[in-house]
Amino acid sequence: MESSTAANWKHSFLYLGFLYSLLCFLHNQISHNLLIGHRPVRVKKTSPDLPLRFRSDGTFKILQVADMHYGNGALTRCRDVLDSEFEHCSDLNTSRFLKRMIEAEKPDFIAFTGDNIFGSSSVDAAESLLRAFGPAIESGLPWAAILGNHDQESTMNREELMSFISLMDYSVSQINPSAEDLSNLARGSRKKIDGFGNYDLRVYGAPGSHLANSSILNLFFLDSGDRETVQGVRTYGWIKESQLDWLHGISQGYQDKPPALAFFHIPIPEVRQLWYKKIIGQFQEAVACSSVNSGVLQTLVSMRDVKAVFMGHDHNNDFCGYLENIWFCYGGGFGYHGYGKAGWRRRARVILAELGKGEKGWMGVERIKTWKRLDDDKLSKIDEQLLWEY
Ligand SMILES: *[C@@H]1O[C@H](CO)[C@@H](O)[C@H](O)[C@H]1NC(C)=O
Ligand SMILES: *[C@@H]1O[C@H](CO)[C@@H](O)[C@H](O)[C@H]1NC(C)=O
Repeated sequence: MESSTAANWKHSFLYLGFLYSLLCFLHNQISHNLLIGHRPVRVKKTSPDLPLRFRSDGTFKILQVADMHYGNGALTRCRDVLDSEFEHCSDLNTSRFLKRMIEAEKPDFIAFTGDNIFGSSSVDAAESLLRAFGPAIESGLPWAAILGNHDQESTMNREELMSFISLMDYSVSQINPSAEDLSNLARGSRKKIDGFGNYDLRVYGAPGSHLANSSILNLFFLDSGDRETVQGVRTYGWIKESQLDWLHGISQGYQDKPPALAFFHIPIPEVRQLWYKKIIGQFQEAVACSSVNSGVLQTLVSMRDVKAVFMGHDHNNDFCGYLENIWFCYGGGFGYHGYGKAGWRRRARVILAELGKGEKGWMGVERIKTWKRLDDDKLSKIDEQLLWEY
């Protein structure tokens, strides 16, 4: 009796010890992936080399990918392709296009401007995101994404999506500025900022140059929302006052403001005026913006650092037009499961910033250019233009 009780005790003790280590292990595993407060614990397997910086040849190249509309992969069919193309076309063509663009342009950074996944076709949002951003992750390039109006239509809400995206390998996306960042701003010491996926990224000067430790190009990302109802009428989302206050505050924080580029999904109402102006690219469908004008253009004009804005949402528009000294450029539909125009190739935009050269080597940004490439045999390059020159 005695010895068997002792053995039982010994077993129970070992068993408890085992349970305890198991719990510790699980706790570690889980807390690594949990959000603490509003800030994600960043424990990616692989993070890119940061900060973002110009290359030693004085250039920084961004690939804009608008509206991938990813579903579930091989089983998700293409929309609006020629009858002859339909049979052998799926989300894998979107992945293939992304891989080809990365190989051809060798960008330094990829900006995904929303409707990355087409929620209503996606069985599992996490799975679709992993597939959609897969080629970017495989390339090992730093990348960032914001949300469109369709991303949240699957198994994750907008906050969950941005948390997940911020934790993906090589992603430099963020959910929102921290409370600490917000309280350091000149204007708007608000605690809460509307939306998910409002953040700024700084690009530093060329290695070894006297601006190697300074941010010389800013990239602003904003959440333009999904749908809203205004006085009983459904419309698209818009960028709210809290977001504009934050943006303005960041820009005010600089003594020498470097040039900046902004990225958001849904165009602003003023983009409609471009129908009457000279544009570069195609204007083939109505601008599907919000009925609310929240003053984004006035804010950008008053900041004076944003030289160009890159949007998505209207897949059949791929133009750049000039409003109040700021270029507004569409990316043009990238993904095969998104609507498009049969025979009008899916496309992507490239943005190139070039530094000036002084006696002491590379200086600040001197020139910003853009062009697009079509998903045809040659990845045809079209509509190259200058956006800004110092
Ligand atoms: C989609 O990919 C397949 C396989 O690589 C290819 O044969 C087909 O032409 C592509 N379709 C389009 C529309 O690009
Ligand atoms: C930039 O920072 C690094 C590391 O702190 C330092 O070694 C280097 O001298 C700095 N370069 C310039 C131009 O300030």
